[in-house]
Amino acid sequence: MKAEDYLSFVDAWEGRATIRTRPRRMLENDEKLIYPLSRQPLVLSDTFTHECAQLRDYVLVQTLYKFINDVVIFETEIVDKTARSIAKNRFAIPFPFACRYDAMTVVIDEDYHALVAMDFMQQTIAMTGIEPIALPQEIELSRAIPAAVKLAPEHLQSAVELICVAIAENTVTNDVAAFAKDDSVKQSIKGLMADHLLDEGRHSGFWARLVCIYWQSAAQEDRECIARILPVFIAQYLTNDIQKSFDFNLIENLNVVPAIKQALKEDVVALSFPINSHHPLVGNILRFFKISSMLDSHCVRTALTDYLPVPGALQ
Ligand SMILES: [Fe+2]
Ligand SMILES: [Fe+2]
Repeated sequence: MKAEDYLSFVDAWEGRATIRTRPRRMLENDEKLIYPLSRQPLVLSDTFTHECAQLRDYVLVQTLYKFINDVVIFETEIVDKTARSIAKNRFAIPFPFACRYDAMTVVIDEDYHALVAMDFMQQTIAMTGIEPIALPQEIELSRAIPAAVKLAPEHLQSAVELICVAIAENTVTNDVAAFAKDDSVKQSIKGLMADHLLDEGRHSGFWARLVCIYWQSAAQEDRECIARILPVFIAQYLTNDIQKSFDFNLIENLNVVPAIKQALKEDVVALSFPINSHHPLVGNILRFFKISSMLDSHCVRTALTDYLPVPGALQ
């Protein structure tokens, strides 16, 4: 795909963007869950269900707060930053006006997602009376993107940043989808996630097209250099260090005896995902590499050997 072939999605944005189409959602005070059990394995652990099942809703509320906090960081500090610099033509890689205009809609969408997330944080505090425990200042990407960019020579730093954000924008999508399908979860929370998902469908294609435009014009030696950085980024992106320390801190805040806290921590460690081809986000990452055309390059396939399924599975 060439830059001049890029077609703006502005009509779809005007007609379907959630900021253009959705009323405010209100958290309902019903018996349903505020967060899907499948997204907080701690509450499904044997120790938890046997020893402190009555704390389930407290843990789910705190986990929702962590999720909201992550969304706000991701939207305002990661995606907003890169999309805004593309929109304002301050990015080292030049893009035509249609790309820059669409990038500005991404800025608007993401800042709106952050606003909606903050609204839900306030509504949940007001309804439950539960104040958030200490929330992380960073998400995995806050470390993984700068680490990847630092490995690139100066003339490739914007390209690496673009690819990292594009990967992230192509993986959160399925993360959010898990909420939208779960009928045990409150309707307003599911609606919030479904709204977000609708916008992210547009974003994932946008970022993949920008990467495709860049990749098609990139020199072979630049492609090889970027390919070597990819595994470093992916490994840092998929770590669960921040989630684990949040879960440990959450366990410390539970009103249970120290022996049970210790058992719960062991459960959290045992339940975390491995960083290899079995990690649930790896399929999304590989799909992004495929649709962005990056996976057509031999250097990318070589760099991703550890994550690729059996040869030919992606054909
Ligand atoms: Fe978003
Ligand atoms: Fe997005």
